[in-house]
Amino acid sequence: MSGKVRVPGDKSISHRALLFGSISEGITTIEGLLPAEDPISTAACLRSMGVKISQIVKGQKVEVEGVGLNGLQEPTEILDCGNSGTTMRLMLGLLVGLEGRHFVLTGDDSLRKRPMERVGQPLKMMGAQIRGRQYGNLAPLSVFGQRLHGAVIGTPVASAQVKSAILLAALTAAGSTTVIEPAHSRDHSERMLKAFGANLEIGGEMGRHINVSPGAVLTGQTVVVPGDISSAAFWLVAATIIPGSQITLENVGLNPTRTGVLEVLKLMEANIQIINEKKVAGEPVGDILVTYSKKLKPFSIDAEIIPRLVDEVPILSVAACLCDGDSYIKGASELRVKETDRLAVMTRQLTAMGARIEELSDGLIIHGVNQLHGASLDSETDHRVAMSLAIAAVVAKGDSTLARSESASVSYPDFWDDFERLRK
Ligand code: S3P
Repeated sequence: MSGKVRVPGDKSISHRALLFGSISEGITTIEGLLPAEDPISTAACLRSMGVKISQIVKGQKVEVEGVGLNGLQEPTEILDCGNSGTTMRLMLGLLVGLEGRHFVLTGDDSLRKRPMERVGQPLKMMGAQIRGRQYGNLAPLSVFGQRLHGAVIGTPVASAQVKSAILLAALTAAGSTTVIEPAHSRDHSERMLKAFGANLEIGGEMGRHINVSPGAVLTGQTVVVPGDISSAAFWLVAATIIPGSQITLENVGLNPTRTGVLEVLKLMEANIQIINEKKVAGEPVGDILVTYSKKLKPFSIDAEIIPRLVDEVPILSVAACLCDGDSYIKGASELRVKETDRLAVMTRQLTAMGARIEELSDGLIIHGVNQLHGASLDSETDHRVAMSLAIAAVVAKGDSTLARSESASVSYPDFWDDFERLRK
């Protein structure tokens, strides 16, 4: 596969720009917002609560007319978060502190099976009222807004969604709130909340203590969304494993809390070069040049690095199949509660292509093979599985078919167009 790609805007940053813009005073302008299903779900929920957000169209700036920290209206309809865990979890943090207002949140079949008590439980420590199936763990969820109080909260999982929900609730709580994570998850919320004017301080060992004091007024900003490294990862691995490939990825976000995939490709001795590094609107970005590597070393990764590459495990497991030896992915039980159980789904699908994978409760052992073979594949509705299997299918011997390939549009609406273009 050869050529240049400009991957779409970062999904995490896109959600946050819409959410933080909505609760600010004045206008927020977003350049490069990801025009995909997940951020569109976030925008739709915000519009149902009275926020004016211009149409989300590829290549066009999006304008958000902020209603202020307490300005979201009680919606007359159920808030549909679609397939998006980030929408539901961050929205919970935002809504629990809106006194006297009632909200109901739901999502698609996948989202209604995903654990929400990881957000609900810390928010309840601040006085939140959330109800749903399994004592508030599963959507549909009902929220009755309360006057919250600050708290010191140690989160059991390193999850940026959990951390961000608490930070959002802390903006309107009485008193200050501190979140302490077991490991450092992506820090887009911290960067952006500070830029919007929140009273947020980062301290503690390795910056794992984040403190928010209420009282600040957030002010609309211009947000420039970099390309999503989680989308770039498919092409990084494609060019690395498909003979004769060379791909240039332009304008990719290089926030160090997200670049675990580059660290692993380095361990594999892949040919990766970062050029034109710069900072844009508070986030580091650069271009990445990647060329085919004939021989790839196996790798071993554990809980320490997982938060920095949590969404890239499916595509890295494809790369591991073609390494010269055994690769170990451990401390990755979070993968079981993503859009699908990604450890089980990737094992099932890649095994059908001749991969040799042992599934562990918290990871995978992948024994390198010389060649994958074509097979009848299924994304099982998961966008990152669909795109990972597409790359596996190119490198495999013989043809493959992929059922439910359209799920890619959750995070990368033009994936199949870019795929065709780069294959020529
Ligand atoms: C996200 C955080 C990650 C990631 C998800 C997006 C975010 O989830 O898997 O795709 O935008 O905060 P966790 O924070 O739950 O690990």
